[in-house]
Amino acid sequence: MGAEEIKENIYWVGAIDWNIRDFHGYSTYKGTTYNSYLIKDEKICLFDTVKSDFKNEMLYHIRQLIDPEQIDYIVVNHVELDHSGYLPEMIALCKPEKVFCSPMGLKAIESHFHPVDWPLEVVKSGDSISLGAKTVQFLETKMLHWPDSMFSYIPEDKLLISSDAFGQHLASTERYADELPEGAALLDAEKYYANILMLFSPNVQKLLAKVAEMGLDIDMIAPDHGVIWRDPALVLAAYDRWSQHIADRKAVIIYDSMWHSTEKMAKNISAGLRSVGVHARVLSAKVNHRSDIIVEVASAKAVIVGSPTLNNGIMPTMADVLTYMKGLRPRKKIGAAFGSFGWSGESVNILTGFLEDMHCEVIEPGVKVKNVPDHAALQECFDLGVRVGMAVNASMEAEGTSAARVAED
Ligand code: FEO
Repeated sequence: MGAEEIKENIYWVGAIDWNIRDFHGYSTYKGTTYNSYLIKDEKICLFDTVKSDFKNEMLYHIRQLIDPEQIDYIVVNHVELDHSGYLPEMIALCKPEKVFCSPMGLKAIESHFHPVDWPLEVVKSGDSISLGAKTVQFLETKMLHWPDSMFSYIPEDKLLISSDAFGQHLASTERYADELPEGAALLDAEKYYANILMLFSPNVQKLLAKVAEMGLDIDMIAPDHGVIWRDPALVLAAYDRWSQHIADRKAVIIYDSMWHSTEKMAKNISAGLRSVGVHARVLSAKVNHRSDIIVEVASAKAVIVGSPTLNNGIMPTMADVLTYMKGLRPRKKIGAAFGSFGWSGESVNILTGFLEDMHCEVIEPGVKVKNVPDHAALQECFDLGVRVGMAVNASMEAEGTSAARVAED
């Protein structure tokens, strides 16, 4: 791989991580990239660095264009270590005239690196710097997804360097979304959104409104992970949809089972959903990774959770998924709970508590079955599926949301 010119005198100089498979709890089956960008102008400006393990790859790319010591400015759009891990060494190597960061970026830099002599300069939303022919305008994007996060916009090139926003955990030899099979990058962007940004959806809505109000003319979005968008309308529209929690006519049934009783219940609930025209996904927490489950949750109108009672609680796999899910704050969901038990039977109440914490509209009562479900109990499960499905249908009709996506599947 080499440095790639993405706009005249603007280059991708990042690194490709083909082998990462876990990004603090997010399964990155396809690896990722750490994207850095370099502008060659009267002032040479670098935007973010890379994870420290990848410094040689980044330096190789920079050296294809310039001697790193020629770098005048470094813009720190985000201090998380996958983008700033190499920052201290980079500053030592190139001795930049200035290092720009947001006000919260300054605090993050201080608490991560404890620098004593870095030429830090704080920039706020609306501030800009001239590089010569090109300008960099800054836009703070607090909590997208850290307090320090910031965008850099190059008006002369209609280029938005967007930090983590609009990214995907996707390693590829291609640099652009439109070079991949149609829709592929958007699927990875959806997983990224669900796992990293969903909890900040209100901020995403505010940001999209702000960008529209500012009238930014954008024809390229270059994120810090994955491929670059040359058709930004596509991902902007998707972010608008995802951040409004617009769901499909679909339910996800997430469960774990000890001796297949709760599993049988899950399957009968799915049949009930099917009988009223609601698409159902049955996901065992044993075999599906939490970060894949959350993608299904994000696009579902209903979340139905099941666990047998284990040690007066729920299965650890379900505790894992539900803790992760609750943190990511899915909203506007219908919920229900079910599970088998041997003697004490707390699981359905515990599961219902998680659903209430996520502000779900809970369909009561859930279904509890002692030991192994008989035909009557399985009918109860089918009926729960029907009740949830009818609530989904009523909600979809009320919201005027189409089931187009399911129809396309
Ligand atoms: Fe890609 Fe928030 O770091």
